[in-house]
Amino acid sequence: MPLLIKEGRVITVSDDFIGDVFIEGETISAIGRDLSGRLSIPAGTTVLDAKGLLVMPGGVDPHVHLDMPFMGTFSSDTHETGTRAALFGGTTTVIDFVLQKQGHTLKEALAEWNGRAEGTAVGDYSFHMAVTDFNQTTREEIKEMIQREGITSFKTFMAYKGALMIDDRQMVALMEEVRLQGGLVTVHATNGDMIDYLTAKHREEGKLTPLYHYLSQPEVTEAEASGRFADMADYTGCPGYIVHLTCEGALNAVRDATRRNQHLFVETCIQYLLLDASLYTNDFEGAKWVMSPPLRQKKDQAALWAGINQGLVNVVATDHCPFFWEQKLMGVNDFSKIPNGHPAIENRMELLFSEGVNKGRISLNKFVEVACTNPAKIFGMFPRKGVLAPGSDADIVLIDPDKRHTLSVGTQHMNVDYSAYEGWELTGKVEKVILRGQLAIDRGKCLLPKGYGKFIRRAKVSAMI
Ligand code: URP
Ligand code: ZN
Ligand code: ZN
Repeated sequence: MPLLIKEGRVITVSDDFIGDVFIEGETISAIGRDLSGRLSIPAGTTVLDAKGLLVMPGGVDPHVHLDMPFMGTFSSDTHETGTRAALFGGTTTVIDFVLQKQGHTLKEALAEWNGRAEGTAVGDYSFHMAVTDFNQTTREEIKEMIQREGITSFKTFMAYKGALMIDDRQMVALMEEVRLQGGLVTVHATNGDMIDYLTAKHREEGKLTPLYHYLSQPEVTEAEASGRFADMADYTGCPGYIVHLTCEGALNAVRDATRRNQHLFVETCIQYLLLDASLYTNDFEGAKWVMSPPLRQKKDQAALWAGINQGLVNVVATDHCPFFWEQKLMGVNDFSKIPNGHPAIENRMELLFSEGVNKGRISLNKFVEVACTNPAKIFGMFPRKGVLAPGSDADIVLIDPDKRHTLSVGTQHMNVDYSAYEGWELTGKVEKVILRGQLAIDRGKCLLPKGYGKFIRRAKVSAMI
């Protein structure tokens, strides 16, 4: 059944007008002012009155960890619960991480993740391939991942030594191959050796509370690794993307790289814009926000908001990696055993809207740019995803910009037993969500079945967006 969204305030990166969106099948067929007066809308078209609502592209969150084996446990949202929660929050497409096991192939890892996601995801998804062991076999698989599987981004870790970290020798070799094949290397950029040293030192001194998670990963560990990654990307000519950048020092390393005309993509996450390190104390409660890199200072938040408006920070993601409290308790006597990560897949769009747009820190157009369009462009899904345009997938979010609501574990849909934003009072609420032409979220209910979500093959990428 065709669908006409009528008289909403349509927002894209470059547009802001009162108008209509006409959807036939899975895609948008027309968009403009007063479409019903100008087009012949077929009888039987469902009309959705969007007066007073913002009509925007569905959100794209390019950094989520669903059902991921990590630190002796699994992140608690599956592809079903995680993509459903994402839809409730206005995010229609996510990019999850496949982790190569050291000593194993990329293909084996992909088969494992396909087994978890296929037939279970509710919303659309794609995969980054995390390369944790770069060797001749892996080198040969890069082309196959890009050309056959539509997986064009390769994640690297400069930390988590012994599990996920690769050294600089592997990094440079990987970058050479990825550049050759038309992909992008993304990075968790922190100095793994330095963090390991500080972690061991704190543990030896009996400093075992969440505060020492923070003190084991000072800003310099991220600034140094970001600069080193930038240098290697510049040397090899490989397009590079820094995930979850948190601080002024790391952003300045990127800024420095622009002085030699390098272009790096930068992602920050909603928590680094809104939460700070005062949450880490000697109280175990701080485990709720134990993640890597850790939350930083207020001055870093200011640098990140400025970085968004300067065009240096291109994407606001979540790094959604939830764990039940019971799982967090694995580190009750030792911060280094607390599973790293926090839940946010459902909260990103509403938090960014309320605290960013409604508080005057970013414009509506910038909101769409960093939450929807840039992630789709950078990761080769544009113009299918991330934009409202004829021919694009009809992935649409309708937001009531004035509706007030409170975030709480009692009302969220993520599979986790706490909210990292408990009691936050927000202005601006996701009212309806459409995914590939189907009404997905309406009046607080998810209308799509398990398995509706499709794997999105991605195109080759470049350093330009
Ligand atoms: O704490 C985090 N970020 N957990 C997920 C893994 C990662 O480093 O992104
Ligand atoms: Zn990371
Ligand atoms: Zn992550």
